[in-house]
Amino acid sequence: MDLEKLLTDRLAPAFATVAGGPVDPLVRRSARTDFQSDAALALARRLGRPPRVIAADVLDRADLADVCSVAEVSGPGFLNLTVADDALAGLVSALAADARLGVPVVAEPETVVVDYSAPNVAKEMHVGHLRSTVIGDAAARLLQWLGHRVLRANHVGDWGTPFGMLIEHLVDLGEAEAAQELPMGDLDSFYKAARVKFDADEAFRERSRRRVVALQGGDAATRRLWRMLVQQSARHFLTVYELLDVTLTERDFHGESSYNDLLTPVVEDLDRLGLLRSSNGAACVFPPGQAGRDGEPLPLIVRKSDGGYGYAATDLAAIRHRTGTLGATRLLYLVGLPQRRHFEMVYAVAAQAGWLPAPARAEHVGFGSILGSDGRMLRSRAGGSVKLVGLLEEAIARATLLARERNAELGQVEAAEVGRAVGIGAVKYADLSSDRHRDYVLDWERMLSLDGNTAPYLQYAYSRIRSIFRRAGVAARPEAVIRLTEPAERALAFELVGFGAVVVSVADSLEFHHLAGHLYRLAAAFSAFYERCPVLRADGPVRDSRLLLCDVTARVLRQGLYLLGIRTPDRM
Ligand code: ARG
Repeated sequence: MDLEKLLTDRLAPAFATVAGGPVDPLVRRSARTDFQSDAALALARRLGRPPRVIAADVLDRADLADVCSVAEVSGPGFLNLTVADDALAGLVSALAADARLGVPVVAEPETVVVDYSAPNVAKEMHVGHLRSTVIGDAAARLLQWLGHRVLRANHVGDWGTPFGMLIEHLVDLGEAEAAQELPMGDLDSFYKAARVKFDADEAFRERSRRRVVALQGGDAATRRLWRMLVQQSARHFLTVYELLDVTLTERDFHGESSYNDLLTPVVEDLDRLGLLRSSNGAACVFPPGQAGRDGEPLPLIVRKSDGGYGYAATDLAAIRHRTGTLGATRLLYLVGLPQRRHFEMVYAVAAQAGWLPAPARAEHVGFGSILGSDGRMLRSRAGGSVKLVGLLEEAIARATLLARERNAELGQVEAAEVGRAVGIGAVKYADLSSDRHRDYVLDWERMLSLDGNTAPYLQYAYSRIRSIFRRAGVAARPEAVIRLTEPAERALAFELVGFGAVVVSVADSLEFHHLAGHLYRLAAAFSAFYERCPVLRADGPVRDSRLLLCDVTARVLRQGLYLLGIRTPDRM
């Protein structure tokens, strides 16, 4: 149980009596006392009574004796609440005894589809896919831990007109040669070479066009070549996922092509509902409330004038499948903010068509770009887009070097392991700790620093706790009595018991910087505690209590970082 909620529950009945109706007590953490409520101020005008009088009246009626050591009216009419040491200690003890660290499994599990990563076949995964993959994986981990049924959906771009030219290029290159080139991750040069021929050579263009028709018509030889492109690319994506410690597997690949058979029923449904309009030969839906800058209604193109289906049709089919067949009630789309309009339109049409029946809902979990140190879109030195594998390898190399500098006792193998955990952790944490709606700057120095809101700082805090237990050759005793006497102990306790509420709110908002921020404050509170409160040099019950505080801190850090997809090495 978190304290804000506990205090709210205790104050709410008293406020309701005084105000003659329900009132949110507006309990907030406060720097001056532990918690503060300023609800009496807002009530004053309505009740026509001075706020201090209202606050005093509420205090008289509220049952706070077992939770607060001090509860008093202050200033213009605030309620200042100091939590009793025993009450706080009791909450920490409950946390220590709880394998789920104060985060219960949800009472009503939902089926949630997390649509994330979604790179494109025969194209290199680039940094644009990094954010989707990292944030999406955190969402999948978090919702799963809360007890939801999570279905990961990797909506790989594996269909469409470019496959005509890609297959023709594959034919020109020879299958054996292509099978060498593709899984190595040299997808970009493959794609570019195809593009160059397509732009320069009319005969190649014509072959490509015929190839698209054959592919869509289900021609067996063409399908085989297409499958080869898809599979070789998938191998490359899987190596990236493994490097990134991402939980996506081959079973989660549900590419655009997997919805082909569902496209016709989608159009039939829309037609039957009278939603289709013809616009320049294309079949479109004009969802209400979607207008362009000129105020004209915007069309969502379901079938193009040449009869082909595009990106939007596939997304509609996917929604219909996800709610109708998979029974999902929450659909998450981890895609950059530039696609916001696309998803607004798709969701609006799906709602009109009845494919998002309540309580089902779809959410575009959008995000900004990754910028270089010059504040512009991240580019390679040659000016091209930065390859993900290169970026991850650089992170690991830098972190491994730092690990060896920082700790000479680490052997080769362990330094490599630490370097990997820290390097990958730093990349993921830099992403997850910044507000996803904004762009962020990729700054190696900052993200690998041991100071500040970084993965290495949190991982270091964790490994330091592990080393306390290692050095002493002891384990914490779960039944030890928690005693909170020093201010640093209390401050640490507040961060520990606040974990649950943050996790629950992030499951809703999917704003992981709030979870990251909480873990950072926890690690900082631990540092301050460890500086001021001797653990191993303390005696008897104090030592036991502090060892247990250390242990719970380590468990919360480990679980929190796990939810972000970040490893916690025992030594650094
Ligand atoms: N493949 C697309 C891209 O690289 C992202 C797909 C996102 N998911 C979706 N259901 N549309 O931009």
